[in-house]
Amino acid sequence: MSEPLRRRAFLKNTIAAGTGLAVGAGSRPADAAAVPQDPPPQVDAAPIDNVRIGFVGVGRRGSGLVRQLLRIQGLEIRAVCDIVEDKVQRTQQVVQQSGQPKPAGYSRGETDYRRMCDREDLDLVITATPWLLHVPVSVAAMNAGKHAATEVPAAMTVEGCWKLVEASEKNHRHCVLLENTCYFREVMCVLNLVRQGFFGEPMHAEAGYQKDARFYDLTADGGFTFAGDFSKNHKGNVYPTHDVGPLAQWMDINRGDRFDYLVAMAGNARSFNLYGQKYYGPDHHLSKTKFEMADISTCLIQTVKGRTIYLILDTHLSRAKARHIYRLMGTTGVVDATTDGIYLEGKSPSKDRWHGQWESLEEYCRESPHPLWRDLETKAIGSGHGGADYLCLYRLIESLRTGTPPEIDVYDAAAWSAIIELTDRSARNRSLPQEFPDFTRGKWKTNPPLPIRGAFG
Ligand SMILES: NC(=O)c1ccc[n+]([C@@H]2O[C@H](COP(=O)([O-])OP(=O)(O)OC[C@H]3O[C@@H](n4cnc5c(N)ncnc54)[C@H](O)[C@@H]3O)[C@@H](O)[C@H]2O)c1
Repeated sequence: MSEPLRRRAFLKNTIAAGTGLAVGAGSRPADAAAVPQDPPPQVDAAPIDNVRIGFVGVGRRGSGLVRQLLRIQGLEIRAVCDIVEDKVQRTQQVVQQSGQPKPAGYSRGETDYRRMCDREDLDLVITATPWLLHVPVSVAAMNAGKHAATEVPAAMTVEGCWKLVEASEKNHRHCVLLENTCYFREVMCVLNLVRQGFFGEPMHAEAGYQKDARFYDLTADGGFTFAGDFSKNHKGNVYPTHDVGPLAQWMDINRGDRFDYLVAMAGNARSFNLYGQKYYGPDHHLSKTKFEMADISTCLIQTVKGRTIYLILDTHLSRAKARHIYRLMGTTGVVDATTDGIYLEGKSPSKDRWHGQWESLEEYCRESPHPLWRDLETKAIGSGHGGADYLCLYRLIESLRTGTPPEIDVYDAAAWSAIIELTDRSARNRSLPQEFPDFTRGKWKTNPPLPIRGAFG
């Protein structure tokens, strides 16, 4: 039996023997205390002057990322892969128009990414494919000696999360999650303020995604996209990283604290039936099928250090789009990015000791921006998601060019993405608590907090 398999069998037996929190029947448990403390090998951090990229999946998201990458210095897009040949050709043209040589094209079917990953002249493989391909493509890249970067979520199962961690450690390669929300201006501004101690001790945080995203689940003729296909019978939060990522950074998750366990609830599934009845009639499969999905998924996470996190995914019902929910409550301050409110004890106005007054977070972002925003705002603005897409890619390339650790590493990718399976298991079992595996195997205790850095040049 391989080492990873041996470890998983050991975990299963340990928990089956009755340790720790209860988990649902048939679940695949993992427990921090039970994991052997072998330190993960270091990633090979030798600086790469010119980062040679292979890109897999140039659909809506991937083609946008390619355009942003081409604005960053010190990289070359050497190869492009998509099952649709036209998309590969379009991307080749875009790359050539930017002044780079024509990248090699790969479109010989579902697994042609493997042939691309085996090329010798690549340093990094970026994946923007449908969800279930993120793990196989990233693992193929790392096994072929390339760094990997994947769109969100990194994996859809706990097993997939472990595969990424194990491939990264075995091959000494980075596996970066391209979580662009961590680069939102207000999110980074709050991180900077947290680090300066303005909130005191972070105690609780909340986040939520609030928009009718059924367009992403359904095709024009009422079929399912990859997202709808995965979500339709999933009772958990299928898209947690946009929300949990910023909170995890504010709370030093995997860098001084870590997720301990969660409890989740799934609301009823009405949305696809109502949508089908309204637009396709009563006989359409969307109208008639009984789906198990959570129209609204909620969960609570407790950290090992006793902090709490609340997440809500509200993306299936008819609603007016609202900003992401991002809130942090600390011992000496509170921020509500959704309503642009911030209150810092001793700094913000207060009528008396009980009645603090809200200030504008936007003003803080202007007056004390995160150094990365201070340095790169002009370049970032205009790229997707308010500039966050550019900064997310900039940092990826910068970390490889300077040989410094990426901000969102494989352990973050795994801990944030594990929420998908853990919320499903909990919601199916009357909110039974589900333990997070310690993907860092104890390193969270000594890992330093994320540095607050500007751009290098
Ligand atoms: N971070 C963000 O803000 C954000 C926004 C949108 C999408 N995304 C993520 O980006 C990813 C892609 O989403 P999308 O909306 O671009 O989907 P999409 O369907 O438009 O694009 C996926 C592409 O992958 C290609 N593909 C499918 N199977 C393949 C295979 N075996 N080999 C190579 N290529 C293959 C498809 O042909 C398509 O071009 C998803 O993981 C999604 O969650 C992230």
